[in-house]
Amino acid sequence: MKLKALLVFVLAAVLVSACSVAFAADRKIVVGFAQIGAESDWRVANTNSIRTACEEAGFDLRFVDGQQRQENQIKALRDFITQGVDVIGFSPVVESGWDEVIAEINEAGIPLILLDRTTDIAGDNYFVTWIGSDFLEEGRKAGRWLVEYMQKTGRGRDEINIVELQGTVGSGPAIDRKKGFEEVIKDYPNLRITQSQTGDFTRDLGKTVMESFLKRGERIDVLYAHNDDMALGAIQAIKEAGLKPAEDVIVIGVDAVKGAFEAMLAGEMNVTVECSPLLGPQFVEAVQAIMAGKELPKITYSIEYVYSQEVTRRVVDGRQF
Ligand code: AHR
Repeated sequence: MKLKALLVFVLAAVLVSACSVAFAADRKIVVGFAQIGAESDWRVANTNSIRTACEEAGFDLRFVDGQQRQENQIKALRDFITQGVDVIGFSPVVESGWDEVIAEINEAGIPLILLDRTTDIAGDNYFVTWIGSDFLEEGRKAGRWLVEYMQKTGRGRDEINIVELQGTVGSGPAIDRKKGFEEVIKDYPNLRITQSQTGDFTRDLGKTVMESFLKRGERIDVLYAHNDDMALGAIQAIKEAGLKPAEDVIVIGVDAVKGAFEAMLAGEMNVTVECSPLLGPQFVEAVQAIMAGKELPKITYSIEYVYSQEVTRRVVDGRQF
């Protein structure tokens, strides 16, 4: 009798644990994502890509739009810890000021994936993988394009005044796109940045700041904008000032969003350096690899190109962002 009772107990225990294993395998993977905001067409496309990929993968996605404020993102990250999500995805609005909250994520043992942007925390132990663009190289590409364009158009030795619209102060792309561009033009003393100010990656500020550059009355030969949204806002300001964008003022942007292609086809913008926002599928793959206990590379850069006015309507129509 005793043996029979024991057998029943063991059988029941086996059934209960089998059920809980099955539940664990069936349960949705819970992912918290702390996004920067919706400051640009790029960001909107990036958010759509993440949402769609996570939905297709069947994840339970907890998505928070930080509205470009660091404190909102810190709160979102702390909420994800409290909720005990399986994996956290994070795109930091600026590079500094994350030490404390990231230490909390690490202490909670939640794997962290950095998407698009990184932080200034030393070392790479605090995150599993980072997927994004090489912002420094994007800045260099913009600089190299300008040097070649000036030489090709016979202005290689002319004194050229460049105005710069920087991205969000303290953000990775603003720091690196500036650095990469300056690294290239420093070998050409006739190419000089005469005015430089932030437009916070938004179209409205791009326009306002360009208006203030123009009001100073100094000759402007080139506009280098750290993203296309600011370039598009600035193009508006250039036109309102009675000048021809892409002719009187050479316009360089970054991102390669559809709006920039349309501007190039209309002859109002010269070039855009690609920065791909379509990171959702790679993000999902990384989450799945983590959940399966697989190793991931520390860095994965997206493959990106430079597009100038020779771009065709077919390429533009086929563009996803
Ligand atoms: O981090 C990528 C940058 O952020 C994009 O270039 C810009 O448009 C966005 O807001």
